[in-house]
Amino acid sequence: MSISTLKIAVDDGSTNVKVSWIADNQLKTVISPNSFRKDWKSAALLRDKKVFNYEIGTTKYTYDATSDKALETTHVDYQYGDLNLLAVHHALMQTGIEPQPVKLVVTLPITEFYNSEDCQRNEHKIEKKRNNLMRSIRLNKGELFDIVDVEVMPESLPAVMSTLMNSDCNEFTRSLVVDCGGTTLDMGIIVGEFDDVSAVYGNNEIGVSMVTDAARKALAAADSDSSYLVSNELIKRRHDLSFVKDVVNDESQIEKIINKINTKIEELGASVAYEAKKFSKNPNRVYLVGGGAALIYPAIAKAYETLGDRVVLIHDSQSALARELCMYHSDMGDAVDVAPEALVGVGDE
Ligand SMILES: Nc1ncnc2c1ncn2[C@@H]1O[C@H](COP(=O)(O)OP(=O)(O)OP(=O)(O)O)[C@@H](O)[C@H]1O
Ligand SMILES: [Mg+2]
Repeated sequence: MSISTLKIAVDDGSTNVKVSWIADNQLKTVISPNSFRKDWKSAALLRDKKVFNYEIGTTKYTYDATSDKALETTHVDYQYGDLNLLAVHHALMQTGIEPQPVKLVVTLPITEFYNSEDCQRNEHKIEKKRNNLMRSIRLNKGELFDIVDVEVMPESLPAVMSTLMNSDCNEFTRSLVVDCGGTTLDMGIIVGEFDDVSAVYGNNEIGVSMVTDAARKALAAADSDSSYLVSNELIKRRHDLSFVKDVVNDESQIEKIINKINTKIEELGASVAYEAKKFSKNPNRVYLVGGGAALIYPAIAKAYETLGDRVVLIHDSQSALARELCMYHSDMGDAVDVAPEALVGVGDE
């Protein structure tokens, strides 16, 4: 048997990179938050803390989970520049796989991947993304993966591939996919079992960061300044009182903070529902993906009430796209055991 190059699926979103690969017939996934700043960090105090200092050309960067100088990764240009190259390499380093030559499947926002006028592939932008990821980058005191080939897929839509295949839809079924990510809302309409993509939509003003920002402000007002990572964790675990108490220094403010978060979640849900209805009034199904899916599910289910259980929250919605891309592009096909899924945790540093 010849040894083939390892293939890894990377959904490199603007706030988190999701990586999926197959090892020992199991689908594995890591989620790596984007938080980089210029210059290098000094060596870690603790020997088991690894420092990631990178160099692209003559510019030095470092991974810094809690820095307030973290560089913006939330604009479209991010897809084609240094920070994307950094984010992808850094995420690959979190897999625990020995650095080696790899083939990647990566993603581009749907409105970059497709021309919005005619829903055709934008070959120029796809090539630009491929070329960016094949540029050279160096890790100080360490080795990086060698990216030998890059395939580009659209964000959002492929996340529902296996769900669609198993949902006996016909060639006329119109499925609305709603991807609520960290900073953008992306939507698309799939006809049949991926026979056609009939419309795409992107809005970079609606995303979970609306809730994160409100949570950060509320925490700061309760003498509990915190990073994006901690604020996001608080949003996820807002029903877990012992965690909330750990994060909020001034306990008398807990109720106020939680109310603030809940109000923002409702606002996010209302904005997404409004945009979704405007984009697609009467789809046959609605699928929710992306990290914010669970937050907006109640509002979307209500907006498309007549669809009932055909409004579907895809499980582990944040990493669904990376997992599907991995399954779809893996050469191992059905031999893979996807359940129980192994989600490898990534720490703050
Ligand atoms: N179960 C959950 N409940 C609430 N929020 C969650 C959950 N899982 C993830 N998130 C939040 O979702 C956000 C990230 O989502 P995602 O990874 O889809 O964004 P992204 O792909 O980086 O962004 P974009 O698609 O806008 O480029 C983070 O703010 C994260 O905290
Ligand atoms: Mg995304």
